[in-house]
Amino acid sequence: MIRPLYYYGHPVLRQKCESVKEITDEIRQLVADMVETLNHENGAGLAAPQVGVPIRLFILRDYIVAEDGHWTMTDPPTVYINPKILSPSQETDIDTEGCLSIPGVRGKVERPWRIKVEAMDLDGNIFTQEIEGYNARCRMHENDHLNGVLYIDRMDAKSKQKLESALREIKKKYNP
Ligand code: NI
Repeated sequence: MIRPLYYYGHPVLRQKCESVKEITDEIRQLVADMVETLNHENGAGLAAPQVGVPIRLFILRDYIVAEDGHWTMTDPPTVYINPKILSPSQETDIDTEGCLSIPGVRGKVERPWRIKVEAMDLDGNIFTQEIEGYNARCRMHENDHLNGVLYIDRMDAKSKQKLESALREIKKKYNP
């Protein structure tokens, strides 16, 4: 079932989410619904609070760039339960991000270039990944959602100011 998205201005996006204690049928259903919702939206990643469920879980596809420059995305998306971002590199990178909860807007954000991620999968197994570049960025973006943080919070003040009127519009339009 496609679930309704929650948008910028809704308090569920600003909550610190609760850890998942147990992988129940409800969690499995939530993940299945999130995958359907992500596909419907043609998105790369989706965090549980974006569908109104404030728990520590997100799903994410990776970008795979071929030698000829063409890119594809992994399918199905990977499920991250109670994720931890570890060992962020000193080296950073600035790139453009968008978010399904902030439609029509994009912005540049500085983040560590390389991280480790530890998380649990739907079978309850812990896995770790070492990852760099845009795919690392996406994990940090999704993980931020679990702490009530949006990428616009990480933009420099001047760039964010340019988005202020668009953000006001989004808040009004999607939170009647
Ligand atoms: Ni997002």
